[in-house]
Amino acid sequence: LVTIRELYKEKDKFIGQTVEVGGWVRSIRDSKTFGFIVVNDGTFFETLQIVYSDKLSNFADISKLNVGAAIVIKGQLVATPQAKQPFEIQAEEIEIEGASSPEYPLQKKRHSMEYLRTISHLRPRTNTFQAVFRVRSLIAYAIHQFFQERDFVYVHTPLITGSDCEGAGEMFRVTTLDMNEVPKTEDGSVDYSQDFFGKETNLTVSGQLNGETYAMAFRNIYTFGPTFRAENSNTTRHAAEFWMIEPEIAFADLKDDMILAENMIKYVIKYVLEHAPEEMSFFNSFIDKGLIERLQHVASSDFGHVTYTEAIEILEKNNDNFDYKVSWGCDLQTEHERFLTEQVFKKPVFVTDYPKEIKAFYMKLNDDNKTVAAMDLLVPGIGEIIGGSQREDNYEKLVARMNELGLKEEDYDFYLDLRKYGSTRHAGFGLGFERCVMYLTGMTNIRDVIPFPRTVNNCEL
Ligand code: 4AD
Ligand code: MG
Repeated sequence: LVTIRELYKEKDKFIGQTVEVGGWVRSIRDSKTFGFIVVNDGTFFETLQIVYSDKLSNFADISKLNVGAAIVIKGQLVATPQAKQPFEIQAEEIEIEGASSPEYPLQKKRHSMEYLRTISHLRPRTNTFQAVFRVRSLIAYAIHQFFQERDFVYVHTPLITGSDCEGAGEMFRVTTLDMNEVPKTEDGSVDYSQDFFGKETNLTVSGQLNGETYAMAFRNIYTFGPTFRAENSNTTRHAAEFWMIEPEIAFADLKDDMILAENMIKYVIKYVLEHAPEEMSFFNSFIDKGLIERLQHVASSDFGHVTYTEAIEILEKNNDNFDYKVSWGCDLQTEHERFLTEQVFKKPVFVTDYPKEIKAFYMKLNDDNKTVAAMDLLVPGIGEIIGGSQREDNYEKLVARMNELGLKEEDYDFYLDLRKYGSTRHAGFGLGFERCVMYLTGMTNIRDVIPFPRTVNNCEL
């Protein structure tokens, strides 16, 4: 079978030839002696028209086909210079591999995103989700290519772990204990020494701590895998299971980290504009008007930079606009992030040097002893898409910070070893993969850029 992509990409070779194509019926119109079927085979963002006539022995069966049926067509590909499509197939044979039914949920009309979420097993057959999930796949490939071209080593960090990298306590527990008969210690707490791993474990919230150990061996590494957060926030940009890319670079500081992040984002934008032009122009027309022009601009101009302290000064002057009023020391909410990137800078912007109290234990303390060498990248339409930092590489300072936060040193022996044996300045960041897909497609809900979303009260399929 030839694919619809091949037919479009190598038109000249196929026109006039007899070809065989498999696809799913998008629409069908028939009259007494002939009919038209439009099929899509998922390989390309265009459909293919089939003309058939009562010369076919199974003409009656074909005319009864429903949307969604799987068929294999054999016939001549003929040019149609007058029509919207460049060619069509004049069928000599149509084999029905799998019929569909009039109850098929995806009829030729506009369905709401909410409805399509209830049929996440069928929605990849629609134009919107064909575009989203092909672009998602290409972005993943582009990210690997970006890092591999630069000799970064791809490290597979574990999904089950005993630590809470971000210290936010938003973890899904992993256990084989019988919930009806949980073993207890003398003081009444759960006795995890009797659990599968002999200790308390959870699904990872970040591969960073493991990633750092490999950066201290390979210099430049990246991870790309699923992460899990039991955040009880039902928003359009939080999922309980999401994918994260976490590069970690040694002999590098926060500036190097931001340069890497900016180059990566620009690389990925250029990659999808070049490799998915049909999908991107679909988003540009139907999902987010002006998307392509904006992305092109982002790919060719410098990102903004502002310190947290400067950002707070700007935001305080605009506190009237916010539900949640800001002052120095508070964490930025989505409304503030979006205000900065959409109203003030009107482009992606790095916010740096946050107060240590609102950031994780591993971030490098600045000389002011109040802020840490952190950076968040904010983008219009979404807010935070990347969170990163230079890491504390000084053993004493790291231990002091852990003690302040009540973290047990013995739980982080491996991490402290890195500061004992050949410690060097190093930095890294985490890119939320779904937020990146949202940014590049203009889709506005995280549930619509991951095939089977997991959010509060939702774990279907
Ligand atoms: O800012 P975060 O929490 O940073 C880290 O986890 C660091 N360990 C990364 C590092 O320095 N190696 O998360 C990083 C990014 C966020 O900027 C956001 O894009 C995404 O991960 N993210 C989520 N995406 C979807 N759903 C959620 N619940 C997310 N939580 C974070
Ligand atoms: Mg963050």
